[in-house]
Amino acid sequence: MITLHSTTARMVMNYSTQPIYTFTLTEVVAVSRTQSDLDALKKEHAKIQPLCLDVGNWEVTKNALKGVGPIDLLVNNAGIMDTKEYGTYTEQDLDRTFNINVKAIVNIGQMIASDMKARGKGGAIVNVSSALGFAVVATYGVYCASKGAVDQITRGMAVEYGPYGIRVNSINPTVVRTRMAEKEGLLDKNNEFANNIIGRTPLRRFADPQDVVNPIMFLLSDKAAMITGITVPVDGGLSVNYV
Ligand SMILES: NC(=O)c1ccc[n+]([C@@H]2O[C@H](COP(=O)([O-])OP(=O)(O)OC[C@H]3O[C@@H](n4cnc5c(N)ncnc54)[C@H](OP(=O)(O)O)[C@@H]3O)[C@@H](O)[C@H]2O)c1
Repeated sequence: MITLHSTTARMVMNYSTQPIYTFTLTEVVAVSRTQSDLDALKKEHAKIQPLCLDVGNWEVTKNALKGVGPIDLLVNNAGIMDTKEYGTYTEQDLDRTFNINVKAIVNIGQMIASDMKARGKGGAIVNVSSALGFAVVATYGVYCASKGAVDQITRGMAVEYGPYGIRVNSINPTVVRTRMAEKEGLLDKNNEFANNIIGRTPLRRFADPQDVVNPIMFLLSDKAAMITGITVPVDGGLSVNYV
């Protein structure tokens, strides 16, 4: 059983549709932009406070989060993936990806961390980045760039907030079996690109959502009390396999 940062912790999450709340918290705020997903979540976990919000909208997010908290644990999970080749990107494409994948993490992260700092009790933040923060794949260029930025934001915040007992880390998964991967066709058994990735992965599979949740919970917990500023590959060994 994992001991969280505080037994009375409150936490805000950008919610993915996967069932990830396997630990006990007094209060959880789940943020997503699709009300029906939040309604489904609320049915499963009555204690959760849903907050329907486009985190890509800086001002709306700032205002909505003013009424929430105090927050002790934060997971920045919301993200989008667009595939395109360099030569075809528009300014709008970049704005869309960076507003959600990058700017939201700064906006929400600094707001929550500043409040943690003011309250003087420390806290923990986990940013969901990607294996594509370390490496690139053709047609995923801007997504990769956004996740590289997430990792630098993690390091920067870890350095600045560390003196206040606030830890900030990233999780960097390979393909995870979620709606995003499904939309990309990566869960299709006949997808050659996906099969190549699995073939190069020492553990010979993609990640399940729980494979990502477990290290997030560890990093949020007091068991990770001396860990901050790191980027954790959750990739079945893919990143160390040269051939
Ligand atoms: N799946 C993978 O293979 C993979 C691999 C590495 C890293 N990741 C990262 O893992 C994180 C979670 O992705 P996932 O695979 O769970 O994707 P997903 O199935 O598409 O879920 C993403 C969630 O974020 C929400 N979201 C997206 N944009 C939002 C916004 N502007 N405001 C509020 N909520 C928003 C989505 O809501 P809507 O459905 O309403 O858009 C959805 O609930 C992302 O940061 C992703 O980049 C995923």
